[in-house]
Amino acid sequence: PNRIIIDTDPGIDDAMAILLAMADPRIELMGLTCIFGNVPVERATRNALWLTEIARHPCLVAQGARHPLMRPPQDHPDFVHGVEGFGAEPAPAPRATPDPRGAARFLCESVAEHPGEITLIAVGPLTNLAEALAHDPAIARGVKGVIVMGGALRVPGNVTSHAEANIWQDPEAAAAVFAADWPVTLVGLDVTEAVHGTAADFAAIARAAPEAGGFLDRAVQFYFAFHRDAHGLDGCHMHDPTAVIALTDPGLFTIHETPVRVITEGAEAGRTVEGGTGPRLRACLGVDAAAVMEVYRSTLSNGRLP
Ligand code: BDR
Ligand code: CA
Repeated sequence: PNRIIIDTDPGIDDAMAILLAMADPRIELMGLTCIFGNVPVERATRNALWLTEIARHPCLVAQGARHPLMRPPQDHPDFVHGVEGFGAEPAPAPRATPDPRGAARFLCESVAEHPGEITLIAVGPLTNLAEALAHDPAIARGVKGVIVMGGALRVPGNVTSHAEANIWQDPEAAAAVFAADWPVTLVGLDVTEAVHGTAADFAAIARAAPEAGGFLDRAVQFYFAFHRDAHGLDGCHMHDPTAVIALTDPGLFTIHETPVRVITEGAEAGRTVEGGTGPRLRACLGVDAAAVMEVYRSTLSNGRLP
């Protein structure tokens, strides 16, 4: 199976991605590393631990960066994910505790123990990955791949008219991750906004997996309300789970190889632009959205989640 570590700021669509990885028999989830973003990092860590309990899928969870590499912390988007991260759905205090190593060390040591085997799937701001590169540059040679949910190449941003949230939160970290010599696949708004989850999808998942799927179905109602108000959408964008499906079902995406530059200065900070002198990334520009949703629904309903 595909060994992965998800770097995450749970977050409603982060929870969708994590539960998908836990349910998919083609994936071995080696750990979750947590980052500020949708919520403060302490809350992200607590939410990740809670997800391992509700899914009855124990896995290592490590806490990472509290704020961006070089900038002051930004406000957390509580109007998108709720103050605690799962909309109006509570995440009770988990029994498990985080790995004492912290995210950057956990990432580097896991990759060193399994050279060439682990894909990092980053679905939050990229600070932990940048810190891991700084902590031990050998991580770049050791990973199998890096998938980043972030950026907007040929569509508008979702925080500003230019910038997508995960890149905007820490543009310097994103620039470091895109400049490193490791194989990056970019899963940006170009594809994630094309994939829509609906109330019927999550109701079906809740019927198949009453505990974990029921939790997701309750949490997603808040996310639906945000998408209705902000985008006039009947449903929601499936950002973070689409990054996981880019690993398991790459044939559902149209990929364009290009360097990607991150603008770090001025009003366009956080914008991702095709071209430049950096390494070529595999940027997803097209997607079979219906097939991605079919993978999502069928995997969460496959009987592996309680
Ligand atoms: C990204 O921003 C976060 O709010 C979501 O969890 C996703 O990772 C989408 O721009
Ligand atoms: Ca996220």
